[in-house]
Amino acid sequence: MTDLRSSQSYSTTRATLITGASRGIGRAIAQECAMRGHNLILVALPGESIDRIKQELINRYAIQVFTHETDLTNLQAPQRLYDWCLDNDLTVDTLINNAGIGQQGAFESLVVSGKLSLMQLNMLVPVNLVHLFLPMLRQHPVSYILNVGSVASFSPIPYKSLYSASKAFILTLSRALRYELRHTSVQVSCLCPGPTLTNEQTRLYARSLGRSGTLLEMAPGEVARYAVAGMLAGREIIVPGWKHKLVEMFARYLPKNWTIPASGRLFAQSLSYR
Ligand SMILES: NC(=O)c1ccc[n+]([C@@H]2O[C@H](COP(=O)([O-])OP(=O)(O)OC[C@H]3O[C@@H](n4cnc5c(N)ncnc54)[C@H](OP(=O)(O)O)[C@@H]3O)[C@@H](O)[C@H]2O)c1
Repeated sequence: MTDLRSSQSYSTTRATLITGASRGIGRAIAQECAMRGHNLILVALPGESIDRIKQELINRYAIQVFTHETDLTNLQAPQRLYDWCLDNDLTVDTLINNAGIGQQGAFESLVVSGKLSLMQLNMLVPVNLVHLFLPMLRQHPVSYILNVGSVASFSPIPYKSLYSASKAFILTLSRALRYELRHTSVQVSCLCPGPTLTNEQTRLYARSLGRSGTLLEMAPGEVARYAVAGMLAGREIIVPGWKHKLVEMFARYLPKNWTIPASGRLFAQSLSYR
């Protein structure tokens, strides 16, 4: 029997889906996309902020905004999100895998549940969402996947071991997927921001890194401008700002037996601020 939901009806709405859109970089990306007239599907944990942001965007821009509140670390959440899009006649032409959590501290000090949530949200959720939405993305003449990595994607970082490993995974996945999809309508990009002042915790953390942290800080709005412009230009790796491009060069091209101890010393220094 044919799944009726899989056929697009004339009333289908095209939209950009952004995970983690209630705060920080995700929220700023939503604003950038709204300014360009994209309809939006905003995904975040259950709470009040996502509806407030929806209202703000609807008041300012002539777009449609849909919200889906879910804990993406729930194993069924990606499939439920996909089904919800079909049930609401929403077709996604841009998938932005932004939701992610950070980690600081020695590997041994991390609790098992925290490790699992990080791996789930930072790696498995983007994999599942790409897998689910790819057939839909391919139906559009031009479509985009933007996965959010980090400058931490470029070299292992002691005391951010699991986080840097998860972001290296995202970068590797994005680059390989981009090649596989090179003859399709789907452009794959990976955004690799440096320290971004998204909340009080990231502000304190950037400050705890001393001059290197404060020198590299960026505002979420600035990161989002690079992100959306880079994605629409079809860039493979988007590193916002020349200072972060320098970090990227160091992290990518200097020998790892130099970058790992150097970042280890830097990040060990930040532990005393927790
Ligand atoms: N900030 C930085 O310095 C920095 C640097 C490089 C890369 N990044 C990456 O950029 C991305 C965004 O970071 P950010 O600092 O903007 O994050 P943030 O301010 O902490 O916001 C996280 C967003 O993800 C949502 N979220 C968190 N856990 C979720 C879950 N289990 N299910 C559904 N949604 C969830 C949050 O929703 P609620 O508001 O409902 O909690 C919020 O919208 C992440 O992938 C991060 O690794 C950040």
